[in-house]
Amino acid sequence: MGKSTKKRIFSGIQPSGNLHIGNYLGAIKQWADIYADYDSVFCVVDYHAITVPQDPKNLQKKVIEIAKIYLASGIDPEKAIVFQQSHVRAHVELCWLLNAVSARISDLQKMTQFKDKSSDGNINISAGLFDYPVLMAADILLYNTDVVPVGDDQLQHVELARDLAKRFNHDYTNVFKLPEAKILKQGARIMGLDNPEKKMSKSVKSELNRIELLDDPKVAMKKIMKATTDLGSEIKFDIAAKPGISNLLVIYSLLAGMEIKDLEKKYTGKLYGEFKKDLAEIVAEFLTDFQKKYNQISDKAVLDILADGACRAVPIAEATLARVKKAIGIS
Ligand code: AMP
Ligand code: TRP
Repeated sequence: MGKSTKKRIFSGIQPSGNLHIGNYLGAIKQWADIYADYDSVFCVVDYHAITVPQDPKNLQKKVIEIAKIYLASGIDPEKAIVFQQSHVRAHVELCWLLNAVSARISDLQKMTQFKDKSSDGNINISAGLFDYPVLMAADILLYNTDVVPVGDDQLQHVELARDLAKRFNHDYTNVFKLPEAKILKQGARIMGLDNPEKKMSKSVKSELNRIELLDDPKVAMKKIMKATTDLGSEIKFDIAAKPGISNLLVIYSLLAGMEIKDLEKKYTGKLYGEFKKDLAEIVAEFLTDFQKKYNQISDKAVLDILADGACRAVPIAEATLARVKKAIGIS
């Protein structure tokens, strides 16, 4: 990549489930808005996805789908590295080294995502799910990352990456840069349409929970019209008293590029129905435009981009890995 004075961004998404506007507004749109000012690296994290069961016939299709979503969101693979995690072996190698010398079981036991995913009494959980944040730390640290743009549910994982880096630097030599999470003030936690008390998620059973990026726009419009709203009729941003309308206001604001206070003015004296109808149209327009771009990208083009991305990622990752091994005393 040559020497660049720009700071480096690294982020990734798992090729599991269907991406929704929460993923888009909290993570991918944020990347697309800022990536050109950074030396950017975006990864499709397939080794993370397999910590819960995936259909082997579908996994590579999902990888291509996620990469296409990055591209359709405006990430130019000439300006950023876009690659598939499993193509760069250094990720698992660094994960092992960090497991062995820096990660502590007590760190991993504190991770709320693991606690949530393992709390339903399921004993059939993979050790990989527990170790997931160490692989994520390896992803981030291999690239001397400065900034990690993510939704707020990933903050704790980025902080762990930073802690592991600090511990390694302290115990050995100063190898790792300390990364920082970048979380949006607005959009970092889009809530479920059917339950605005909980975040929108790929894994909630009801499809009314989320607008998927590849939803038929007409279906998406219906989901907006059915979204849970609150008591009263005022269109006002107030998360405690009006979580449903507040969430819809955030989505509207980010998709239309309008301030929430201007939306409140626009809808003074108007009813929820009218507000939702307008939002449904905005969502449908966004999806139509997004899917047009998505459908223009061929699978073959994506595979070439991922292959090229891996070629560009490997030397950066290998250089860091070599420094880590040397620090530990392995050569
Ligand atoms: P995941 O769905 O866990 O693979 O998340 C991919 C990215 O989307 C991460 O940066 C998450 O923090 C972000 N994300 C996931 N769900 C939401 C949500 N409901 N609101 C905002 N960001 C989200
Ligand atoms: N754990 C992240 C998620 O579920 C995905 C991820 C893996 C990631 N490695 C990363 C995000 C490195 C940022 C940086 O969303």
